[in-house]
Amino acid sequence: MNSPARTSKKLHIKTYGCQMNVYDSERMADILRPLGYEMAETSDDADLVVLNTCHIREKASEKVYSEIGRLKEQRGEKEARGGGRMTIAIAGCVAQAEGQEIMNRAPAVDLVIGPQAYHQLPELIARTTRMKGERLAADFAPDAKFDALTAERNVTGPTAFLTVQEGCDKFCTFCVVPYTRGAEWSRPVASILEEARGLAAKGVREVTLLGQNVNAYNGVDADGQPSTLAKLMYALADIEGIDRLRYTTSHPNDMGDDLIAAHGDLGALMPYLHLPVQSGSDKILRAMNRKHGRAAYVELIQRIKAARPDLALSGDFIVGFPGETDRDFEDTLDLVRTVGYASAFTFKYSPRPGTPAASMPNQVPEDVMDERLQRLNALIVEQQQAFKETLVGQVLPVLFEKKGRYGRQAIGRSPYLQSVFVEDADHLMGQIVPVRITALGNNSLQGALLAPVEA
Ligand code: SAH
Ligand code: SF4
Ligand code: F3S
Repeated sequence: MNSPARTSKKLHIKTYGCQMNVYDSERMADILRPLGYEMAETSDDADLVVLNTCHIREKASEKVYSEIGRLKEQRGEKEARGGGRMTIAIAGCVAQAEGQEIMNRAPAVDLVIGPQAYHQLPELIARTTRMKGERLAADFAPDAKFDALTAERNVTGPTAFLTVQEGCDKFCTFCVVPYTRGAEWSRPVASILEEARGLAAKGVREVTLLGQNVNAYNGVDADGQPSTLAKLMYALADIEGIDRLRYTTSHPNDMGDDLIAAHGDLGALMPYLHLPVQSGSDKILRAMNRKHGRAAYVELIQRIKAARPDLALSGDFIVGFPGETDRDFEDTLDLVRTVGYASAFTFKYSPRPGTPAASMPNQVPEDVMDERLQRLNALIVEQQQAFKETLVGQVLPVLFEKKGRYGRQAIGRSPYLQSVFVEDADHLMGQIVPVRITALGNNSLQGALLAPVEA
């Protein structure tokens, strides 16, 4: 017997890498929805699987090939069940960087699509013919992408990402982003405000502005003049319902005076800033082409903290960059002690094909990197714990996001991006409510409502 005609198709998207990819995955789902694609939790029964990939470190990009192998098996099983064909698409930064190689190495892949071509997905999927990765990968025109991505966003919950800027002109010598995401480009103010109004209408209270170099934002405003990130944020904070703003990721050299001032003056801007420095050694910072020294970074942090004394910081660090000596690494530990981080991401240097650092002399042996990473992590964990301890007893505004596992427990978000577990609070979803922090959890905080709060 024939099975009944299927009215909807199943789409599974697996996302690797940074928040930009999370945002892009949501937008791909949005533009495919009108074609009848509904999201599926797993890939085994999906009609279309998109791997949204990351190229930043070797481990991240190698994952793609093992995942393709797994999907190929699932595709076989699905077809054997009479479940129809599974289309496999590779998106994201590996698609951009290695489009042709993917086509050669993994014939199971139907489609390779770079980050600036997502608006063409419906058309490409509809034409089941195989596309050559290089054709798509070659074009960098984010304006076409954002102009075309007008589909309504399908948000659930009170927090959302919003991409305002893409690409990077900094060319740190270790990094692939300038090659996978292209030159710096900013969305016009009007288009961002429109998207934010749509989010607010759907109950979003907290928006995180995204860009590879988000504080270099310079999109045109209504008068055709370049805006700054600070000006954009003041306009966003004026939107009814948008109560909290964050932005990530920033480069120290693009922290303009008005952005620093906004940390003091703009109430909606959360007192938590991700400002990567990568290393504490001036010699290594130079070799990384970071274009700033250690002292300038420390002075910058002091200025931002003068504007916003309760500011907490997070950062990114690379250990084992080529030529990093014990002394250079000690300088990094020393910088971490000087600045004090509430949290940080730490990475072992991973040589990326085509980047200048990959061919530098004095590559650092793996065991040395392992040891340095452990020592750095131990220090960061210590600082993270110390920071969390300062919060116990404080009253923090918490944005309630989802129900907890037990009884009427609810989970919210602190100004510092920690999860806060609160009993008897499941009627407060989407609200920002003062909560007294009572204890520390593993990766979270526990809190209590100050008094019974009406829904
Ligand atoms: N645009 C952001 C993030 C880029 S990738 C920024 O400029 O901060 C996120 C982090 O990955 C970087 O900050 C860096 O710490 C790390 N990273 C990038 N390339 C790397 C490499 N080749 N090896 C190890 N870590 C790397
Ligand atoms: Fe990569 Fe440096 Fe650009 Fe960040 S600023 S994306 S680390 S090149
Ligand atoms: Fe990875 Fe691309 Fe983001 S390389 S970190 S997914 S910009």
